[in-house]
Amino acid sequence: MKILVTGGAGFIGSAVVRRAIRDGHQVVNLDALTYAACLANVESVSNAPGYAFEQADIRDRAALDRIFAAHDPDAVMHLAAESHVDRSIDGPGDFVETNITGTYNLLEAARAHWTRKGRPESFRFHHISTDEVFGSLPPDPSVKFTETTPYDPRSPYSASKAASDHLVRAWHETYGLPVVLTNCSNNYGPFHFPEKLIPVVILNALAGKPLPIYGDGSNIRDWLYVEDHATCPYALRDP
Ligand SMILES: NC(=O)c1ccc[n+]([C@@H]2O[C@H](COP(=O)([O-])OP(=O)(O)OC[C@H]3O[C@@H](n4cnc5c(N)ncnc54)[C@H](O)[C@@H]3O)[C@@H](O)[C@H]2O)c1
Repeated sequence: MKILVTGGAGFIGSAVVRRAIRDGHQVVNLDALTYAACLANVESVSNAPGYAFEQADIRDRAALDRIFAAHDPDAVMHLAAESHVDRSIDGPGDFVETNITGTYNLLEAARAHWTRKGRPESFRFHHISTDEVFGSLPPDPSVKFTETTPYDPRSPYSASKAASDHLVRAWHETYGLPVVLTNCSNNYGPFHFPEKLIPVVILNALAGKPLPIYGDGSNIRDWLYVEDHATCPYALRDP
């Protein structure tokens, strides 16, 4: 199948692109190439016959329409986002524009494309979100987030992702667009951007610098290996 992957030059998106190409899918990698992008992440597959790259911004609806028409994808995996919590506190505007308005544009472009194709049931709009939309868990490790956990975002980043989740759900309920919405925990693994916690800790440790710890150090995070995340079987299954 042909998958339009947004944010495919970023950390998780590039793992999805590499995995999908390895599994024999065709991939259109749509990325604006912000500071967080690195095309070296997809260098190993960039010469594959099924790989195409489109530098475009999801805030640009006309560009999205052109790309859907040019490539005719069977599914969308939406990972393009502003993703760094600390940056969202310093400057929330980009998070609102990319994560909310950008997702709205992509939903509308995908809906127009899906409608033109005759509304196939097999079409998928997979929105990759975060467990941070659910806020924090209590210290009791037996308590987990579930699909019915109420939304409780705590930062401009998680609030913008929560808003995008609501748009995706609404486009399914209102227009019938076939969507999948996943709320993963923190990812780690190859090509992780150096500003994120695990690379920062490793790089500081190697340089003999202090290790930054959030709060008083008692917080617990759940970590998902990025290559495991990218194998997400239902998303890459042939229709
Ligand atoms: N990294 C994590 O631990 C984690 C955890 C949970 C959820 N997520 C979600 O997974 C997705 C991918 O996260 P990541 O860590 O790979 O992010 P990332 O910051 O590494 O990559 C994001 C990519 O999106 C692109 N992008 C940003 N704004 C864009 C725009 N306006 N138009 C087109 N492309 C744009 C960037 O150039 C970059 O390549 C995000 O939606 C994020 O919210 C990430």
